[in-house]
Amino acid sequence: MKISDSLAAAINQQIAQELNASYLYLGMSAWFETTVYSGFAKWMLMQSDEERAHAMRFFNYLNDRVGAVTLDTLPAPKVVYDSPLEAFKVALAAEIKNTESIHKLYELAETGKDYETKHFLSWFLQEQVEEEKSAQDWVDRLTMAGEHVNALLQLDKDAGSRTGD
Ligand SMILES: [Fe+2]
Ligand SMILES: [Fe+2]
Repeated sequence: MKISDSLAAAINQQIAQELNASYLYLGMSAWFETTVYSGFAKWMLMQSDEERAHAMRFFNYLNDRVGAVTLDTLPAPKVVYDSPLEAFKVALAAEIKNTESIHKLYELAETGKDYETKHFLSWFLQEQVEEEKSAQDWVDRLTMAGEHVNALLQLDKDAGSRTGD
């Protein structure tokens, strides 16, 4: 069944939002590259790739449901941060905002009785739980580390050990 125009428009917005998140994390990776934190630079690059993969899930789904993909302009992301903690606070806020956006999509699918889209979105609901937890954990760990160089370098090492998930 062809997807409704309103839901297609909302999914197109979500594609832009995921690409925007990808760009946000790429900007963070670029900033970390200018610091001693090579582990966080790698973590952010992987996160950027993950957000692009999210965009592609929506891209493919919209095509499968015979909706037309429209691609929007992306604003330039911030590429200078004060500290790793600031970057992860921005990441956490962006993830919380994205969860709200997935909720709105879900509500739209529910109102329109689009069962397939509800099913499709359930993966994202679960994913956002993990995304928020992950960003929150980094905020907590970096807050605890404060200005302690050894602690910060240890966290950077931990971030650098991230593997594909
Ligand atoms: Fe995402
Ligand atoms: Fe995310």
